[in-house]
Amino acid sequence: MAAALTRMLRGSLRVPSDKSLSHRAVLFSALADGTSHLSNVLPSDDVKSSLAAVADLGASVEMSEGDYGLDCVIEGWGDAPDRSKLHDLDCGNSGTTTRLLMGLLAGLGIEARLHGDASLSSRPMGRVIEPLQLMGASIEAEEGHLPAFIHPARNLHGIEYRTKVASAQVKSAILLAGLAAKGKTIVEEPAKSRDHTERLLPAFGVPVERTGLEASLEGPARLHAHDLSIPGDPSSAAFPAVAAALVPSSDVLLQDVALNPTRSGAFAVMQRMGVDISFENEHAEGAESIGTIRVRYTPELAGVEVTGEELPSLIDEVPVLAVLAAHARGETVFCQAGELRVKESDRFVAIIDGLAAFGIHAWEDGDDLHIGGEGQGAFERSPREISLPTYHDHRMAMTWSIAELVAGNTVELDDRACVSVSWPSFYEDMKSLRVE
Ligand code: S3P
Repeated sequence: MAAALTRMLRGSLRVPSDKSLSHRAVLFSALADGTSHLSNVLPSDDVKSSLAAVADLGASVEMSEGDYGLDCVIEGWGDAPDRSKLHDLDCGNSGTTTRLLMGLLAGLGIEARLHGDASLSSRPMGRVIEPLQLMGASIEAEEGHLPAFIHPARNLHGIEYRTKVASAQVKSAILLAGLAAKGKTIVEEPAKSRDHTERLLPAFGVPVERTGLEASLEGPARLHAHDLSIPGDPSSAAFPAVAAALVPSSDVLLQDVALNPTRSGAFAVMQRMGVDISFENEHAEGAESIGTIRVRYTPELAGVEVTGEELPSLIDEVPVLAVLAAHARGETVFCQAGELRVKESDRFVAIIDGLAAFGIHAWEDGDDLHIGGEGQGAFERSPREISLPTYHDHRMAMTWSIAELVAGNTVELDDRACVSVSWPSFYEDMKSLRVE
């Protein structure tokens, strides 16, 4: 991306479809009786890993180009996935594919090997395998890392489990295993993580009880086909939102964005920092609420404290929020943010080192991440040429591309193409908002 100082971001954009909802729609459709029609499924590398896995397992998948992504017709595998062979499933870079599949397959009597790229192979899987083993699953993974081997097990039983971390992937895996288990499966988490699984399972015909930090379902239970359109991804929307807040004269509309409260923490934090952000045309669509976000350039921003309790609602947005925080007056702290160390890269390291290259002091104190706010124009004083590693992490590549746009300098990134994990058309879409 070239210099941005004299440029502004204007116009409207339909950000790519939600990644979390796309995975769940694909996986639940494969498990369901009947044929589900999904529209606007995110055509990203991560979701393609889920689509390829369910096809290998025996679901019939037909795809065509839709308005905002893929239209998919998925006929579920009915009684069970194909039990005649060992399924060798490449999960690529996708933690959601891996962890949800582990839960979903745990009690279905199949033999599978799950593997992925170097980043995924270094991420912790014990957090999912441990509760699934307590339910009676037979899963092996050396030191809790991929590759993982799922052996046939068909007598799972429900458990009551308190997760150590607030993770929607862990919670979802346990609930999905609970579909094949006898009795009640109850998951309690230390803070509320995204609740798409709990919202979507009832649409596929399985009631989920929810109270406070607890979700439960009664097994065994069967899913029934459901038609669904996937809205825009709030985690993707955060990138143009931060850019619009920081590039002078910008005024951007982000349309059709999922505004689920367990996902919209980044926008609440932006509001607290003083960003000129508003929400229009909010309405319910199926189990989710959707709306348009308007963000305008805001010269004066204030540093804020982001609590550990609200962190899960913005966990994927911390890198780009750190760029915003660098432009605030005063320090911003993301409390209890240790989960950032086990995302697609160690984002503590990536954020602290990356901001240092822009001349911004950021530091860790235990699991708290601090960003020193340098106020308006913070990046304009940064070196004109910077070289940064992305660690092949899509959100770091997009974060430093936004930083480059804001700074108006040149950032050499070792892997820009990895944005295809969640937003294949990121560079074209951002360009469509640029006015010379
Ligand atoms: C996701 C949950 C989050 C998030 C990831 C997608 C999901 O991970 O970081 O990008 O779709 O359930 P955790 O649940 O592990 O925090």
